[in-house]
Amino acid sequence: MSGKNDKFLFDSSLLYNLDFSQCVCAFNPAVTPERPGDGLVMRPLQIHDYDKGYLDLLSQLTVVGEITRSRFQDQFGAMKKAANHFVVVIEDVTVGKIISSATLLIEHKFIHRASQRGRVEDVVVHEGHRGKQLAKLMLESLRLLSIELGCYKLTLECDEKMRPFYEKFGFKLGSTLFLQLRFFE
Ligand SMILES: CC(C)(COP(=O)(O)OP(=O)(O)OC[C@H]1O[C@@H](n2cnc3c(N)ncnc32)[C@H](O)[C@@H]1OP(=O)(O)O)[C@@H](O)C(=O)NCCC(=O)NCCS
Repeated sequence: MSGKNDKFLFDSSLLYNLDFSQCVCAFNPAVTPERPGDGLVMRPLQIHDYDKGYLDLLSQLTVVGEITRSRFQDQFGAMKKAANHFVVVIEDVTVGKIISSATLLIEHKFIHRASQRGRVEDVVVHEGHRGKQLAKLMLESLRLLSIELGCYKLTLECDEKMRPFYEKFGFKLGSTLFLQLRFFE
């Protein structure tokens, strides 16, 4: 797969150059972003993923609602312009469907020597593909990518039941509270 491609949300070489010898999780069999498994391709989100079941996949995570192609394209364009959304997907190329997605969001800071904070968002693996190390591969990739992009920390929000999963990657419960104002679902 080529490195820079306008259809991609970000430069795919960022994914393929990650140093997987620095993983904190064990993989059996071994997988990497370049070799996620038979018939699978891991890559940045593409604008054409609208036609590859991307929104159906996200609906296995939370409420998605009706999103037209044009709204999807506008949102994709906004993310690409902002250049701080690293949405990674896995496609089952045997059927042309997106079967996993996870996002690294980068916040540029003045604090901590003007470095970056990373946030893990919207981690999902399609019901038919769970239990095959794909979430682990996505999380390791986002963790290594956040380091590569100069983040001083990486955070996420999750239910208590998901805590053991994220602890596999070294995430620890912080002492700060997570407050929210919810304007709509
Ligand atoms: C959670 C989810 C992403 C896991 O995907 P997956 O591909 O089945 O996970 P993996 O096969 O990579 O599992 C990796 C490891 O995490 C463990 N794990 C998986 N789901 C877990 C869960 N819900 N809680 C605790 N551990 C879990 C597995 O047992 C496995 O452990 P091992 O390496 O010791 O064998 C998937 O179940 C999903 O998409 N759920 C719905 C959306 C969701 O809840 N997303 C998370 C939002 S915070």
